[in-house]
Amino acid sequence: MTSTYALLQERLSGAFSALSPGADPVLRASEHGDYQANGVMALAKSLGRNPREVAGEIVARLDLEGVAEVEVAGPGFLNLTLTTPFLGAQLREIAANERLGIAPAAPRRVLIDYSAPNVAKEMHVGHLRSTVIGDALARMHRFVGHEVIPRNHVGDWGTPFGMLIEHLIDLGEENAVASLSIGDLDSFYKAARTKFDADEAFAERSRARVVALQSGDPETRRLWQILVDESVVYFSQVYDLLDVSLTPEDVVGESAYNALLAGVVDDLAAAGLLVESGGAWCVFPAGFTNREGEPLPLIVKKSDDGYGYAASDLAALRQRVGELHADDLLYVVGAPQAQHLEMVFAVARMAGWLPASVHCEHVAFGSVLGTDRKMLRTRAGVSVKLVGLLDEAITRANEALVERHVALDDESRDELALQIARAAIKWADLSTERQRDYVFDLERMVSFEGETGPYLQYAHARQRSILRRAQDTWSLAAAPFALAERAERDLALGLVALPEALESALALSQPHKLCTYLFDLAQRFTAFYEACPVLTAPEGTRDERLALCELSARTLATGLSLLGIDAPDRM
Ligand code: ARG
Repeated sequence: MTSTYALLQERLSGAFSALSPGADPVLRASEHGDYQANGVMALAKSLGRNPREVAGEIVARLDLEGVAEVEVAGPGFLNLTLTTPFLGAQLREIAANERLGIAPAAPRRVLIDYSAPNVAKEMHVGHLRSTVIGDALARMHRFVGHEVIPRNHVGDWGTPFGMLIEHLIDLGEENAVASLSIGDLDSFYKAARTKFDADEAFAERSRARVVALQSGDPETRRLWQILVDESVVYFSQVYDLLDVSLTPEDVVGESAYNALLAGVVDDLAAAGLLVESGGAWCVFPAGFTNREGEPLPLIVKKSDDGYGYAASDLAALRQRVGELHADDLLYVVGAPQAQHLEMVFAVARMAGWLPASVHCEHVAFGSVLGTDRKMLRTRAGVSVKLVGLLDEAITRANEALVERHVALDDESRDELALQIARAAIKWADLSTERQRDYVFDLERMVSFEGETGPYLQYAHARQRSILRRAQDTWSLAAAPFALAERAERDLALGLVALPEALESALALSQPHKLCTYLFDLAQRFTAFYEACPVLTAPEGTRDERLALCELSARTLATGLSLLGIDAPDRM
């Protein structure tokens, strides 16, 4: 089916481009009429004509089937009000449509680089953001029919591995594996670091170990592999706990590109892009300067002959485009790495590895703050362990359920608490514009009131409970959708608007667009439920209102699932 929005957009585009080819209005759901189109001003200007006259001509050309009223407002807005039969017909189509009216998109291959924690290091809240945002984007892209290639670009290479391997040897393999497998990655890393700083002999061994690792010494590689494998097992446990679909197969870490690095450097040299600067080999992409206005280098090969983070990113990008043929590259990485990524993209373009036909984007996000509005840290001042946060959310959700006297056996309550905890954490992360920082306030996040994940889950569970009470005494297909009450009509307008919410979330890589939509829908439902009795309504009306409950529940559950949030039937 064609969504209401797409249908109107198509008709408007037709009328606009009849006056000037290619002219396209911007349409949005609105308080003025049901939808408002903007763009008459720009069109009139380009034609050198009077806006109201142009608006009149557009209206005259517009297919007005299902439109009750068009109002020309101000100098150039068209406010469209739909007829109730048309809106009812749209609802009937959605009710019969498995995908709630979302038309499949022309498939693209979308590579999403997300999560990317570092081996033998605890995942911190920055990785939480990348994981949660990346997973939501992956789900949304898949839902509209794109092919998603997840890439977990874990940090599994570089100089710290010298000291990590030496520390592993000191501990003995078995002990080392034991401490890593309980997820105590931070103590492992810190112990290695402390020895490195305090013990010159250890530091010396570590440096030699880096050389052995880089030259491919088999025993060193074996020890390194232990660190990688144990970490990946640990990361997978965290993904399970979060209900994130990343698997070990999606891990393609920095080290995976080692064999390609020399080629990257050679080809940059052959293209005449490589410059020696302070003993390192660099590319200077145009437009990047430091505070003094001097050009900034992207270092591809360091003075010690090692390759760095930038080189593996270049190799990865080249492979993602050249071999994997990705149409879209999304890098879900924190805002502080913006300059690094922009420089990598710029160098790839200079080298011809990133053609204009490929859409490449840094999906940046802000920081997670504590309730004191400073970077989230524990009292001891160290960065907060992600699993600890989730555990605390589970405990609070469990308490909330006990307090609410939800009648459940222990096992079901634990499962529900886990679903609520995930919802709390994911919603808090996804519901603000991602570039902004957000405050990690568990108490607020887990609350069943306000703009929270559990509130949305609760709204859905309430709808399911109404439907359970109605049993099988009604039929969705037979619902009349007369939409006689204002609150019913408002809810209907909300229900038909899922496709445009999803479309804008995808176009901007902004899951919060979907969150805003879902919260608005839940509020429309509440207003409807307050104004319109459902189970006690006369027969025809009762069917219609139950149908509105059913479509609301389906829409909320689908929307939440696209954010990686479960919608339990009872809570
Ligand atoms: N491992 C890096 C970190 O923890 C993030 C990697 C992001 N992805 C990339 N292709 N550079 O900061």
